[in-house]
Amino acid sequence: MAKTATLEIEGKKYEFPLVEGTENEVAIDIKNLRASTNGYITLDSGYKNTGSCESAITFLDGEQGILRYRGYAIEELAEKADFLEVAYLLIFGELPTKEQSDKFHNDIKKESAVDEDVKKILDAFPKAAHPMGVISSLTSALTAFNPSSVNVNSEEDMYKSVVRILGKMPVLVAWTMRKKQGLPLDYGDNSLGYVENLLKMMFSRPNSCYVQNPVLVNAMDKLLILHADHEQNCSTSTVRIVGSSHAGLFASISAGISALWGPLHGGANQAVLEMLKAIEADGGDTKKYMAKAKDKSDPFRLMGFGHRVYKNFDPRARIIKKAADQVLHDLGIEDPILEIAKGLEKEALEDQYFVDRKLYPNVDFYSGIIYRAMEIPVEMFTVMFAIGRLPGWIAQWREMRLRKEPIGRPRQLYIGETKRSFVPIEER
Ligand code: SDX
Repeated sequence: MAKTATLEIEGKKYEFPLVEGTENEVAIDIKNLRASTNGYITLDSGYKNTGSCESAITFLDGEQGILRYRGYAIEELAEKADFLEVAYLLIFGELPTKEQSDKFHNDIKKESAVDEDVKKILDAFPKAAHPMGVISSLTSALTAFNPSSVNVNSEEDMYKSVVRILGKMPVLVAWTMRKKQGLPLDYGDNSLGYVENLLKMMFSRPNSCYVQNPVLVNAMDKLLILHADHEQNCSTSTVRIVGSSHAGLFASISAGISALWGPLHGGANQAVLEMLKAIEADGGDTKKYMAKAKDKSDPFRLMGFGHRVYKNFDPRARIIKKAADQVLHDLGIEDPILEIAKGLEKEALEDQYFVDRKLYPNVDFYSGIIYRAMEIPVEMFTVMFAIGRLPGWIAQWREMRLRKEPIGRPRQLYIGETKRSFVPIEER
């Protein structure tokens, strides 16, 4: 393969090196473009064609519908691994041995206590506050309660921040949900597994003994694994660019949570359920919503469909769709919303507009069906995405810091007013 790409500008040729990844992807390295062409830059709104970094964490092939964490297929990990194993794999690059896994979990348990004063911040939020805004604020507040997590430079300091946020996030997530429900906060039980403890903190009741349901534990574990990382998506890119200024891990994750909140990104799982419920209220009239989704004058989009990278089925959607059937069956739930979702999927997959644009169901299309079966409030759906994505954000932040990546600072093409003189107000 040629080792360079040639760019010709006004009759002059410039050579730029080609860089090849381990999965035969090739990038044009333009780090010297502006200097060597006396000021030319590239322009790529939404970074659809622009690589922001080299990464060894997650590989996805949008055309083939392939997703691998550190080389392991998502299908295998969802079937055979547990969430904390996958978190370790993403962050440190290898599946843990039994000893490594036990030490990792114990270190996380040691950090699972949250300062009582955090409750004062939680109490200050109105009940109507969206949980994503609450959890983003509480995550940022962790910096105040753990000041040594701000300036981390050594791997040892990073490790302390990593286990701290993995220990405290499940508590913050559960407390955020319970506060909204007017329930007393649950402090968890460190004798439980990571996911079991999360479920207990979310669903325990003060007047009864919480009994773990293996169907829910398995479903939650699988959902968290499927959300754990997804290379340079919007929220992960946010975590990396905020962290590139050497802001701490908690502050960077808090920014990522805010980016995930948007309905075009992680907020889509809540928007899908609201859309399906609107269709149900409309007598199941999927055709009306398909027409709205295709009408350019209508801002409505078919939520849970389409993807910046996947131009084939999102492999996670396939797994979640199967899991949704299984969970509803195991819980003995007949949910008409699932049938509406399946009907909508069938229609969209046969519709020329969607076929031409390669719009397939994405990770958010079916996940809400399972969260709903687990009696998680719809406003908490994106928070569940966030706690799943936490290991990925951590892994990507840590990789960026260990690789000593430069501060992220894109260029722009200025299209505003050219130089003009100030005019006193009486002359305007
Ligand atoms: C996630 O990046 C990641 O990896 C994200 C994620 C992760 O794990 O981190 O996978 C998680 O965010 C999944 C996506 C969840 N969002 C939604 O489900 C919201 C609905 N989807 C769309 O808004 C849209 O598909 C995006 C935002 C996901 C992708 O948008 P792009 O890549 O910018 O594509 P586009 O807007 O340029 O669309 C191309 C065409 C346009 O039509 P034309 O101008 O060519 O005529 O497809 C149309 C769009 O109007 N289109 C849709 C559509 N998605 C795209 N039309 C109707 N319904 C949709 N859902």
